[in-house]
Amino acid sequence: MKTIYLDNAATSFPKPACVYEKLRTYLEDYGACPGRGGYAMARQAGSVLEETRCLLAELLGVKEPNRFIFTLNATDALNLAIKGVLVPGDHVVTTVFEHNSVMRPLNRMEQLGFIRVSRVGGSSNGLVDPHEIYRALTPRTKLVAVVHGSNATGALQPIESIGRLVRQHGALFLVDAAQTAGAVPIDVHKAAIDLLAFPGHKALLGLPGTGALYIGSRARLAPWREGGTGIFSELPLQPEVMPYAYEAGSPNTLGLAGLRESLRFILRYGVAWVRTHELSLTEYFIKGLGRDGRFVLHGPSSLKDRIAVISVSLQNVSPAVIADYLDRYYGIAVRAGLHCAPGAHRFMQTFPEGTVRISPGYFNTLEEIDTCLQALREAADQLFENQVRVESAVPERNLLPYAKAGEAY
Ligand SMILES: Cc1ncc(COP(=O)(O)O)c(C=O)c1O
Repeated sequence: MKTIYLDNAATSFPKPACVYEKLRTYLEDYGACPGRGGYAMARQAGSVLEETRCLLAELLGVKEPNRFIFTLNATDALNLAIKGVLVPGDHVVTTVFEHNSVMRPLNRMEQLGFIRVSRVGGSSNGLVDPHEIYRALTPRTKLVAVVHGSNATGALQPIESIGRLVRQHGALFLVDAAQTAGAVPIDVHKAAIDLLAFPGHKALLGLPGTGALYIGSRARLAPWREGGTGIFSELPLQPEVMPYAYEAGSPNTLGLAGLRESLRFILRYGVAWVRTHELSLTEYFIKGLGRDGRFVLHGPSSLKDRIAVISVSLQNVSPAVIADYLDRYYGIAVRAGLHCAPGAHRFMQTFPEGTVRISPGYFNTLEEIDTCLQALREAADQLFENQVRVESAVPERNLLPYAKAGEAY
């Protein structure tokens, strides 16, 4: 049974074929350490970093490529932004829809008494009102942190309106673009974004272990990693010049060689095309399942307010059991649980079990969505109408990782 992969919100799969080819070329022909030697192989490896930064700049409307700092993933980029910007006494405005990679650093700093945090909610479909954010700003607000596309509700937040209001106030605007970079057009200047954090391994179709933080000219951050930069080695402290101020140690050049190729691939087709494709799959799914009264579809009803993340509940049936059914009988890979965004699930009243999340991506087809719809209806016939108890539907040993999930997801 061939897997139908519908968990692109976790990481995209597969990657474009050209990415695999270029990884091999990097490993076989010029896998040296970039910026650490003047010989040809090292220069060629160095150009991987420079060219990847230029492609990111082209994608996101940035004029200075050196404003992109390479990180391990979106989490790493968000930590660099949050811990680099905030000092004791600062106030932060954020939303209840944030991923744990924003929530947890802020919660800890708040618990230690360093900062104060205000958390804004949204409408019943998960959309944040920019004026709610504006009303929460105080003279001490240093940072506003907002998830662009929620990985739990699928809501696409109006970052341009929020950004304008935040800029008017003077605070820094941090956008978590983990679900949108490569899938939704973003212009950091239009949205008045000071800090944009995103992974390379989701909609940018690159490898795990890649991500980046865009740092705009208004943001001043304390360094997060200090160490070797290959240049300015005589300085006793981390150089202040970008990108070396925030990058230290040997980079993930292999991963970035993959990201360079996937960015070229995306730019060839255009993010607008990706968005149209993903939304057509989303629309097809929503229309297909929306007619079945046994399911609840969460998130905004209008497609323009959505990303290709669809959270679904089936009354009285654990999301984990549905996901297991899809995997076992149809080879369909979807994710069940809280998706590391417990606040969003509390808001949707799907806490602590969460939802089943279907997240189509670049390579999915309408036929695959059809199979998923058929599998969900069949799962509902088996699990909902017969009121099969969770324990008897699936042998316990298979349930354990999910059933005990709760907070862990
Ligand atoms: C909205 C959001 N923010 C942050 C992250 C963390 O991304 P990463 O796994 O690249 O660290 C995710 C991952 O799913 C996410 O969906």
